[in-house]
This record gives sequence, C-alpha cells and structure tokens, in this order.
Amino acid sequence: MKAKKIVSFVLAGIMALSMAACGSGSSGSSSNGGASKTTSGSGKAGKTVGISMPTKSLERWNRDGSYLKKQFEDKGYKVELTYSDNKSAQQNNDIEGLIADKVDILVVAAIDGEALSQVLGQAKEANIPVISYDRLIMNTDSISYYVSFDNYTVGKLQGEYIRDQLDLDNAGDKTYNIEFTGGDPADNNAGFFFNGAMDVLKPYIDKGTLKVPSGQTEFDQCATAQWDTATAMKRFQNILGSYYSGGTQLDAALCSNDSTALGVTQAIESDYAGKNSVIITGQDGDEANLKNIVDGKQSMTVYKAVANEAVVTLDLAVAIMNGEKPDDKLISSSGWSFDCSYDTDSYDNGTGKIPSYLLVPTVVTKDNMDKELVDTGYYTKGSDGYLKAVG
Ligand code: BGC
Repeated sequence: MKAKKIVSFVLAGIMALSMAACGSGSSGSSSNGGASKTTSGSGKAGKTVGISMPTKSLERWNRDGSYLKKQFEDKGYKVELTYSDNKSAQQNNDIEGLIADKVDILVVAAIDGEALSQVLGQAKEANIPVISYDRLIMNTDSISYYVSFDNYTVGKLQGEYIRDQLDLDNAGDKTYNIEFTGGDPADNNAGFFFNGAMDVLKPYIDKGTLKVPSGQTEFDQCATAQWDTATAMKRFQNILGSYYSGGTQLDAALCSNDSTALGVTQAIESDYAGKNSVIITGQDGDEANLKNIVDGKQSMTVYKAVANEAVVTLDLAVAIMNGEKPDDKLISSSGWSFDCSYDTDSYDNGTGKIPSYLLVPTVVTKDNMDKELVDTGYYTKGSDGYLKAVG
C-alpha cells in the first residue's frame, strides 16, 4: 500500500526548522569521530527519546543527530543522543545504556544492520518501540517502523545522470569506460543504491556501449567498508594503476555516496594520467563534495534533506508514544511540506516487511545547487562561493 501527499513548499517553515537546528549540535562530542553521549531537554510528561547514531566521522550523521535532537526537544521531550564511533560493539553498549536509562522510544541508525538483533530484543522485552532510522536493521522483529529516503531511487538517479551525460542512448559505436564504487556491505542501504544505479547502466554494459576495464561489476567487488574515504581512494588507485596506466580513458566513476566520491576524486587527482574530466557521482551534499562540485571535480550529488527525515521521525515517534498505530494517514494528518510515501512492500528485514516512510531524494549539480540548497534554507553560501550546511 502506498500513499503520497504533496503540499506546497513552505520556505519560511523550513528556514525556521533549519535555523532552529543550527547550533543545537551535541555537546560532549569528540572531534575525531569518537563515541559520545549527550543528555538534555525538560521531558514531555517525563518522556525520553533515545537516539543512537553511527558516527561523527561521516558528515551527514552530525546533521541528523542535531536535527533530531532539536526536533524532539522543541516538543518538550528529553533526548539522549549517542554516537558510536562506527564501532558495532560500541553501538550495542550505547543502546544497552539507553535501555537501562528507560528511554520511551529508540531511534537507531545502525552501523552494522545485522548486529543489533540481541540488544533490540532487550528493547522489545522492555516494551521500548524502535524506529529504524535511515538504514534498515535486519533480522529482528523488534523494529516497529523504518524512516528513510527511497534508497533505490538514489542509485537510479546516479545511474541516470551518467547515462544522460554520456548520452548513451545515442552513442552509436562509441564506447565509454566506467568504474563502480559501492558502500558498506554492513549497511542495508548500500545494496539498494548499487542496484538502483546498476539497473540503469547494466543494459549499456550488456550492449558494449559501457565498458568496465577492471571487470568489477558485482557489489562485493566494489564495496567500501564503513564508507571510508581512504579505503575508496586506495581501491581506486589500484584500479587506475592496473587498468588505466596505458592511456585508457576513464569516462565515469559511479560512487554511491560523497565520502567514497571524495576518495575516488583524490585517486583520480593523484593517479590518473588522462586529461578529460571524469563524471563522478555522489550522495548527501557533504560540504567538501559541494565544494568539489563548484570546483568542477565532482559532477553531482544526490541530496537527501535530513531535516525532513527528522520531521517524519518526530511525528512518527510522537504518534507511537501516544499509543497510536501510525500508517499512511500519518502523512495526511501531519501536513508535511515535502513529499513522503508510506510503503509496506519494499523493505523486508528478514522477519517480515517493515512499514516504511520514504522521502524523496534530489539531484544536485553546479547548475541547480543554489536553488535546491541555498534558496531552500538548508545551506548558506559564503563569500568564497562555497556552501555551508545549516544545522
Ligand atoms: C546513508 C547515506 C550515507 C552513508 C554513509 C547510508 O546509510 O543513507 O546517506 O552516505 O550511509 O554515511
């Protein structure tokens, strides 16, 4: 069952949300992406929300954490926010701590989607509902709902961008070279991104219009543990050294997100001998990548408005804490100023299909960056021409 609602975009509202979130960053954080915990808020009817984020070392989760915290606190809830330094054992401990603190609901973005069944079993025993945030948590029936973006479409948009830039439908006998960089195999999203892109591009590989000199077209061959920039860079340097050193031209590098795109861009800068500009995709709108887009080093990013993901999570969590059983009607009753669909088919975590609220991603390039990111209030533009995230 799918339901969708579009209401007009309310700039002022988004600005207010964004500005409100600004400066709410969690105190007590370490600067090196380390584990941290912040507790605050007055507590609506004594209710506390436990939020478990993966890491501060990947830019977007800092924005997610601070938007979520601000959203709940503004409604009077107390918030406990943890970051687990991309260490799965640490996230288990952090969630155990939140359960011991008797939070009323858990919002969890998993580091390893397969590694939380046991601790979330404890949450279930303690009657604490769990919202799987952005990344689907696998093999546990303790999850009530999933809030994310349409992850398959993220990859599809990346694939379509490459298809259109290379004009593959009109290539005739011309052939192009492409390489793929995927995400973390422990993250359920990574396969959706990769498959979305591959479903667009594979027909051209099959036809011979697109060639993959490394031969690496399977997700497992292209994956990047922990979405790590240096790991993506090293793998790509190896590919360039092994398959492109003899003057072979690289036309496109499909990268599933911005942290991997950064590594691939660095590898191309240091180890690619060709003079052409390589099409490079990304996802998230991380500041360093937006700078690269402005500077012509990265071609696009798929932007996901995490401020809106936080809004959906807030309204869903409040409904659950009020004893409701939210469904598609949450969308109409909430009056969100952005698109969201309710999907009960697409995400099966191994114990059954998890009802999902899915937001809509947007392609951002140099040409529409100001319109999509600055005019909407998500970023400000500095006098140097580069963007800075609000929140
Ligand atoms: C998120 C992406 C992000 C990646 C690495 C994924 O689960 O959906 O937005 O780029 O994790 O942080």
